[in-house]
Amino acid sequence: MRIGVDYYPEQWDRDLWVRDADLMKKTGVRLVRMAEFAWCRLEPREGEFDFSWLDEAVGLFADRDIGVVLCTPTSCPPLWFYEKYPDAVMTEQDGRRTRTGIRGHRCVNHPATRRYCRRIIEEMTAHYAGNPAVAAWQIDNEPEAYFCFCDHCAEKFREWVKKRYGSLGAVNRAYGNVVWSGEYSSWEQVRLPFGHYPSAWLNPAYMLDHSRFASDSVIDFVRWQADIIRERCPGVPVTTNVWFSEHMPDFYREFRDLDFISYDNYPSARPPEEDAARVSHAFCLDMMRGVKRRPFWVMEQLSGGLGCWAPMGRMPEPGLIKGYSLQAFAHGADTVLHFRWRTANIGAEMHWHGLIDHSNVPGRRFFEFADLCETAKTLGEAVRTEILSEAAILLSFDSEYAFKIQPQTEGYSYLEQPRRLHRALTGLGMNVDVISAGEDLSGYRLVCAPEMYVADREAAEKLHSFARDGGTVILTVRSGVKDIHNNAVMEPLPGIYRDLAGTYVSEYCPIGRDRVGVRFSDGAVLSGEQWCDILETEGAETVAVYDGEYFRGKAAVTRFRYGKGTVYYIGTVGEQALYDRVVTEAVKEAGAAYIPGLPPGVEVTVRSGNGKKFCFVFNLSSRETSCVITGRRIILAPYEMKIIRTGEKDPVRDCTE
Ligand code: GLA
Ligand code: ZN
Repeated sequence: MRIGVDYYPEQWDRDLWVRDADLMKKTGVRLVRMAEFAWCRLEPREGEFDFSWLDEAVGLFADRDIGVVLCTPTSCPPLWFYEKYPDAVMTEQDGRRTRTGIRGHRCVNHPATRRYCRRIIEEMTAHYAGNPAVAAWQIDNEPEAYFCFCDHCAEKFREWVKKRYGSLGAVNRAYGNVVWSGEYSSWEQVRLPFGHYPSAWLNPAYMLDHSRFASDSVIDFVRWQADIIRERCPGVPVTTNVWFSEHMPDFYREFRDLDFISYDNYPSARPPEEDAARVSHAFCLDMMRGVKRRPFWVMEQLSGGLGCWAPMGRMPEPGLIKGYSLQAFAHGADTVLHFRWRTANIGAEMHWHGLIDHSNVPGRRFFEFADLCETAKTLGEAVRTEILSEAAILLSFDSEYAFKIQPQTEGYSYLEQPRRLHRALTGLGMNVDVISAGEDLSGYRLVCAPEMYVADREAAEKLHSFARDGGTVILTVRSGVKDIHNNAVMEPLPGIYRDLAGTYVSEYCPIGRDRVGVRFSDGAVLSGEQWCDILETEGAETVAVYDGEYFRGKAAVTRFRYGKGTVYYIGTVGEQALYDRVVTEAVKEAGAAYIPGLPPGVEVTVRSGNGKKFCFVFNLSSRETSCVITGRRIILAPYEMKIIRTGEKDPVRDCTE
């Protein structure tokens, strides 16, 4: 496992560089990421390039056997650029230009942005071509599926729509433009979703295409950069760093042509004590591993209290600097860079804490980081292992966009159900893959397909054959609701999943923040919220019924034998305990291995291969706890991660009742 840090030589005096590099070497830092915001120092005036300072920094690290990740600095072009091209800055929805002086504000579709980005990337990659210290390139910084409303983006969007539909008639049909007399009679009428009005006034089919376009625009920007980098630096891996932003690009498409995924990982500095919430963060890690179904990097890792966008938050509890990094490794991150080496003393982010505080006096968090570096050295063999999962959860970016465009009911959020399903599975000590709907499902025993909202026929077909061949599937509310254009289907829900579920929705009731009881056959009553599908079974058996409202007694959860497999349908958004219960039953049904009776907050992840098995046992609670793994009782201090090595064949999860 490689540990690194994010570093900003341009923000520190030169005499600090040497001291920092020495301390990094001594501590066991193996990688340093630099330059993602340094354009004004790399090209201080148009066409005048200066790599001397970066050479010096790269050299300092290389001399100490520390590799570097160099970034294209395209997230914030210098002010001279905006002086010359004032309209290359993004335009907001109300038509006003974003003000300069920040970052991430360039329009990625503006021809001048592209021209100047190309030049700096060409200069930079030519300069560092063949330099053995360069371990990887990062494109830009956290590029998002920006909603820019400039004329260039408008023109691009029009072209995008033209290409997708070919004729105005086809667009009008796809968008259902007849509603409110919105039919296009010329291409010029295809505009961006401008205006002050709430976007709920706009057509959801058109809005979904606009989200897809925004995603495609940034994916194009990223791929275009990757090509430029690879021309001069072939063989050096290329990535970009992602996070869960308001407008996420479709990661599955974005990373198809990049070498690896990297993720900015900021879990809670003090994990919630409620049992249900504790292991939730691992969902993000499993999702990142699932993007390419390969190991990934953490390009920025929590190192201190967060601040600057909001008032300052807590410092990570003792144990979590090390624990969270090892958790990322347990879930597939073989390289973790901490953000950042030292807290900035200048600029907008001076309250987003790094490993070392403003004082530059190494303290508790730094010493824990140093301890992490020591542990990482011992994990060489574990790097070559795999994370094999019997359970998967499916996600879709079309659905992510469509749910944002049309909130379903008060409190409803797309990722909540996948997260609760994930928590239920990790609560059983299982490895879980979070992957794109439409991926190959062979090898899994259980697949959770929550909220398959926007039709994806390929994904539906794969789920059908997975169940037919004996797999266990969990379907939930809001599946099969929309066609590919985001229009409602004219058939009983769950539409294309109806035959798979063996049940259909006779009526639904979005109950928002109200709660309704859900009664299981043994009399246990758990609660549902937000949404109620009132189910009529067609071959399925009823697992639980509603215990209140006008639909008391109607099926809320069903189970159906489909081919050789089993399909559950969860007709409400349950409290965590409801997923725990249904998932446990489904896991047993599927014959998957699990660990019964894990204490709340304990997460067990297994990496295996080459005749070895590494079992990562993480206590995400502020209390000492214990559990039994491979017949041994393990005591865990608060937030402690223990790594247990066993033979590859040793059962960790021996329960396959
Ligand atoms: C993001 C960015 C970093 C930094 C941190 C903290 O992850 O990539 O540059 O801004 O947030 O704010
Ligand atoms: Zn634009």
